[in-house]
Amino acid sequence: MASAELTLAALVAWGEHLGASLQAPVVLTLSGDLGAGKTTLVQAICRGYGVREPVTSPTFALVHQYAGERSPVYHLDLYRLKGPQDLANIGWDDLLSERAVVLIEWPDRAEGVLPSDAQVLHLEHVDGHPELRRITT
Ligand SMILES: Nc1ncnc2c1ncn2[C@@H]1O[C@H](COP(=O)(O)OP(=O)(O)OP(=O)(O)O)[C@@H](O)[C@H]1O
Ligand SMILES: [Mg+2]
Repeated sequence: MASAELTLAALVAWGEHLGASLQAPVVLTLSGDLGAGKTTLVQAICRGYGVREPVTSPTFALVHQYAGERSPVYHLDLYRLKGPQDLANIGWDDLLSERAVVLIEWPDRAEGVLPSDAQVLHLEHVDGHPELRRITT
């Protein structure tokens, strides 16, 4: 595990770099409390991967699909997941078996059904430094 404390600009640059290096199929989980920067990081990863459309927060939709240059990108926000039936409704098994980039906010909501080879990213606030986030990979 590695961790670093990053400004917004540094976090975005890091995410764009990561996105440029991704090879589908790949699943990334992004955990961390409210406002930790998960969606901000997803947006940077998508930009780096070559998504040209705006990436928004899918809090109410559970999942958004974007066209990447090299594969589809799925952005899931499971904060409002009510149970396993919601996962079935969004086609969980199918989208995880596609050759896609899958980015999952609030992965703890799907504990037990996450792929074991998912790449884990964790973000947290830094006490006394509102402009920084600690990222652990
Ligand atoms: N160093 C930083 N890295 C990331 N975001 C930062 C940083 N400093 C300040 N911010 C701000 O923190 C906010 C993070 O919001 P964001 O929506 O990305 O969080 P989130 O983890 O997705 O929250 P939620 O759980 O509500 O979905 C943004 O307004 C962003 O500008
Ligand atoms: Mg978010």
